[in-house]
Amino acid sequence: MLITLCGGEGAGKSTQARRLAEELEKRGFAVVCTREPGGTAIGRKIRALLLDPENIHMAKETELFLYAADRCQHLSEVVRPALAAGKVVISDRFSDSTTVYQGVARGLDADRIRKVHALVLEGLKPDITFLLDLPPEKGLARAMAQIDAGGRNACETRFEKESLAFHQKIREGFLALAAEEPDRFWLVDALKPVEAITETMLERCLVLLEKRHKETP
Ligand code: TYD
Repeated sequence: MLITLCGGEGAGKSTQARRLAEELEKRGFAVVCTREPGGTAIGRKIRALLLDPENIHMAKETELFLYAADRCQHLSEVVRPALAAGKVVISDRFSDSTTVYQGVARGLDADRIRKVHALVLEGLKPDITFLLDLPPEKGLARAMAQIDAGGRNACETRFEKESLAFHQKIREGFLALAAEEPDRFWLVDALKPVEAITETMLERCLVLLEKRHKETP
């Protein structure tokens, strides 16, 4: 089963991915907790290029294909082997972030992005996607506080440095995507306490895992 988390900056996705993985492991599931960009050694090199604030002149297309390249490596090295072994994969960000950041916010053609997704994903789709939603000014303040406290890498702030309008587009983009695919998306109020968020996500995953279990002969 493939579980993905998405949302804007500072929504708490990494914390929730980790907590959800721990809870599922406690219940006996084999879990692989991973992320994009940078879920592999090669991906970490791509990630450094993508998030370096010095790369202000990166063409939108370059950005799109670097995320796609990171995803190809991630799928081949981590996601597909884990799914084939029957594990639960939790990915902190996945293809929906490309649709929203490179498509909606950077303005690349949606059809072009769909074509890239088709080439990269070859039909793979998350079973459930949690959208951690919060007002961008709150998320950015959290992300900046983490950078100041040393909890986040100050060399990876290319997106945090974008305008508030950019981040507002991101929020609206994710909400529109969630409305388009209500069966896959699960909307989470990211301002709720950490524990309450994990609990809701866990409950939803357990329902799905149970259903999957019953369906498998
Ligand atoms: P990260 O530090 O993981 O951000 P966050 O903690 O907010 O998840 O950095 C990932 C950045 O890359 C984030 O700003 C979103 C962006 N991104 C894209 O623009 N497109 C993509 O396809 C992905 C996966 C991420």
